[in-house]
Amino acid sequence: MSIRICFIASEVAPLAKTGGLADVAGALAKTLQARGHDLRVFMPRYGQINCENLQLWPVDFLQRVPLRLGSRDLRFDVHTTQLPGTATMIYLIDCPELFDRQTIYTNDPDEHLRFLALTHAALICCQRMGFAPDILHCNDWHTALGPLLLKTVFAWDKLFARTRSLLTLHNLGYQGVFGTDSAADTGLGTDIELLDRQEWQAGRINPLKEGIVHADHISTVSPTYAREIQTADFGWGLDGVLRQRSGDLTGILNGVDYEDWDPRHDRHLPLHYGPDQLHIKAQLKQQLQQRMGLAVAAERPLLGVVSRMTAQKGFDLLFQSLPPLLEARDASLVVLGSGDRRYEDFFADLAARWPDRVAFHAGYNEELAHWIEAGSDIFLMPSLYEPCGLNQMYSLRYGTVPVVRRTGGLADSVQHFDATTGRGTGIVFNDFDGFGVGWALTTALDLYAQKKLWGKLIRNGMAMDYGWSTQVGHYESLYAQLSSATPVKAA
Ligand code: ADP
Ligand code: GLC
Repeated sequence: MSIRICFIASEVAPLAKTGGLADVAGALAKTLQARGHDLRVFMPRYGQINCENLQLWPVDFLQRVPLRLGSRDLRFDVHTTQLPGTATMIYLIDCPELFDRQTIYTNDPDEHLRFLALTHAALICCQRMGFAPDILHCNDWHTALGPLLLKTVFAWDKLFARTRSLLTLHNLGYQGVFGTDSAADTGLGTDIELLDRQEWQAGRINPLKEGIVHADHISTVSPTYAREIQTADFGWGLDGVLRQRSGDLTGILNGVDYEDWDPRHDRHLPLHYGPDQLHIKAQLKQQLQQRMGLAVAAERPLLGVVSRMTAQKGFDLLFQSLPPLLEARDASLVVLGSGDRRYEDFFADLAARWPDRVAFHAGYNEELAHWIEAGSDIFLMPSLYEPCGLNQMYSLRYGTVPVVRRTGGLADSVQHFDATTGRGTGIVFNDFDGFGVGWALTTALDLYAQKKLWGKLIRNGMAMDYGWSTQVGHYESLYAQLSSATPVKAA
């Protein structure tokens, strides 16, 4: 059955990316489209999008479209382009005053309005195209007001009579809260009274919470995270509403786009390898060491990190445990990432202290991320929480052993290696403390020294299949189930 889907996301790879949401949006869209669904993907036309190699087509009936939100009289144009390397069409909402800024996300006072405009624009485009979606699929806080808009502002339009909404939670740590003084920016008019009263009394509008309350269904990006967010420890204050909706909450593990992330044909690498060509991985390791200014040492285990530098990623644990480990063991480390100053400073200090064994590249670099996946022996993700996480799944395919904490999607995708049975794909630790991560790293380094066991561990990981071809089926079933269900009422 072909399903009509209106898919809205704030980032879609490779056009605009700050993290995993972009990877997921790009790959899921491509897979759904290839399976014959009628998918319309909407995202902002950010100033950052490199249009040099893109062909953009203006949609003639979607030019200078008026959109009034609060006191802002906006106009947007729509361009379509093909998602590079795919047959998937993307609709870019072009509104320079909102989307042509220094960075994709900002701390500007109208941040909420930028993404409300995206959500309104996507629904207006559906109207003008006469596209009646079976599913409105929203992602994270940016587009989480979509379900409520559908049931209020757009409810008059019969086009949406059969549309059911799905909100996917990629990260509960970002909720997009803004003040009630900007309530008019929602475009809800008198329907603002439907907004959560408790938040309202505290002077807040919480888009993510509204999405959780008003979406016909909610999904998140791993089964374990779906359970975790219903507890106070992981709920970020939303565990109560999530528990109320637990019957409508599904955890679907993200997939991996193996066209992009597979060492057998990775376009960012000069050499390619599979499980039987690990000597090529060893060559890439040496090239990576060279490139990063590290001492070239074939036998020395190389740890890799590619990450946004935020508290979520668990680097606090490394402050106490990593320096003594580097002191005691002959290991080296390559880190790529940017974000909070204290983590960047920590890694920069390590690099200054051990220049031939630690390299830190501050910033965002897609190509280097692929090199680190390929050239490292061990990939470190000690996350405090991790809705899904993609790098641990990429690492498995690259024969780079993931060292992860047992949380969210990390728990669902990496099995702790048992040396006696030879089963398992990585090193998994439980407790969020320095001892836990120290134990995990020492275990990994000890195993690395036992070549036969290490080879087994690597090959177990490389044999795993987390491709979208299987994961997409879960979304298809959910879409089908939703299309035949009655919608959640707006009040
Ligand atoms: P999150 O979405 O929380 O950042 P994920 O593991 O789901 O975590 O996805 C992160 C994605 O972003 C991966 O594709 C990773 O390679 C990429 N990434 C993160 N930081 C950087 C960086 N500094 N340079 C290049 N890619 C990065
Ligand atoms: C978020 C999460 C990450 C997840 C990604 C894609 O950014 O932090 O765990 O993999 O979204 O769903």
